[in-house]
Amino acid sequence: MHAISIHQFGGLEELNYNKQSRPQLNTGEVLVKTTAVGVNPIDWKTCSGGGASGFVTEFPFIPGWEFSGVIADPGDTAFNVDDAVYGMIRFPQPAGCYAEYIAAPAAQIARLPDAVDLTMAGGLATASLTAWQAVFVKGDLQPGQQVMVLGAAGGVGHLAVQLAKWAGAHVTGTASLHNHEFLAELGCERAIDYHHQSLDEFNSSMDLIIDCVGGETGISALPCVKPGGVMVTLPSVTKEQVIAAGVAQRRRVEPILCEPSAEQLIKIGELVADEELKLHIGETFPLAKAAEAFALSQSGHVCGKLILTCDQPA
Ligand SMILES: NC(=O)c1ccc[n+]([C@@H]2O[C@H](COP(=O)([O-])OP(=O)(O)OC[C@H]3O[C@@H](n4cnc5c(N)ncnc54)[C@H](OP(=O)(O)O)[C@@H]3O)[C@@H](O)[C@H]2O)c1
Repeated sequence: MHAISIHQFGGLEELNYNKQSRPQLNTGEVLVKTTAVGVNPIDWKTCSGGGASGFVTEFPFIPGWEFSGVIADPGDTAFNVDDAVYGMIRFPQPAGCYAEYIAAPAAQIARLPDAVDLTMAGGLATASLTAWQAVFVKGDLQPGQQVMVLGAAGGVGHLAVQLAKWAGAHVTGTASLHNHEFLAELGCERAIDYHHQSLDEFNSSMDLIIDCVGGETGISALPCVKPGGVMVTLPSVTKEQVIAAGVAQRRRVEPILCEPSAEQLIKIGELVADEELKLHIGETFPLAKAAEAFALSQSGHVCGKLILTCDQPA
């Protein structure tokens, strides 16, 4: 099979597209022929020696934690050959998803409803699970509450906006001006241009802030958390900094580490099938062009998600 791999941590030049052995199945695993895989910032952070690189114990390392595809071998599980599935697996342990075949734990994947596009679903699992867990698990969002999403046009942010709206909340999003129409389509009642507008008018008014940016951006939004409210901060690299600022300002900050969940994926798949939730694809590349997708993701201004397709020639 073809796969993207690295032989050492480094820059984009370390990414190779070449032939690798198909993975072997262990108990409780299925072999998936991938249709598409999603690009997340954790992928290039890990390849460059940050992110989840502490969990990488051997090379070549195949990056990637999310995929869509069809079951090629169900192993000893209840799945059937040709079932359409998607998932985020093993995170933060290596999962090897930038490949034409993946061995996936059956307990961490879900069947896709017929109405859901299989290629799009390659980019759905990680961002939607993160958004779900930030909004409903860490954030405990209730109908009628005020929510602010920092980075509302990005992979996680645009799904967090839609989930919060679906749950009956009032949503404010931050993004560059050219993305404000997109934010309105997602369901944001107010859009803030973070380049030029301050958040002062929202002081102590938010029940929940989903911080998809972290660092100084997260810290500068802390005064908007109202008493009893919470900020869920996503980027692991700045979480200690944001938590410490929260303690100093008496604002509750919760870090998050996205966990695989077949149960949540089933619910998310239903929402997508019912057109309550929509994944916006920023751009699609063939798997072989992963380096181009990484460079775009590193720009920090992707709108929605980037997808790598595995069923097209390089
Ligand atoms: N802890 C976890 O389990 C977990 C899970 C998933 C992701 N993450 C982390 O969460 C972060 C977001 O992930 P993602 O996939 O959503 O990233 P992404 O899609 O690459 O985010 C890009 C978006 O960030 C926005 N942005 C950049 N700087 C901003 C600022 N100062 N204020 C507001 N928006 C800003 C951009 O908006 P404009 O283009 O409009 O400027 C763009 O739409 C990453 O650091 C990722 O590693 C953590």
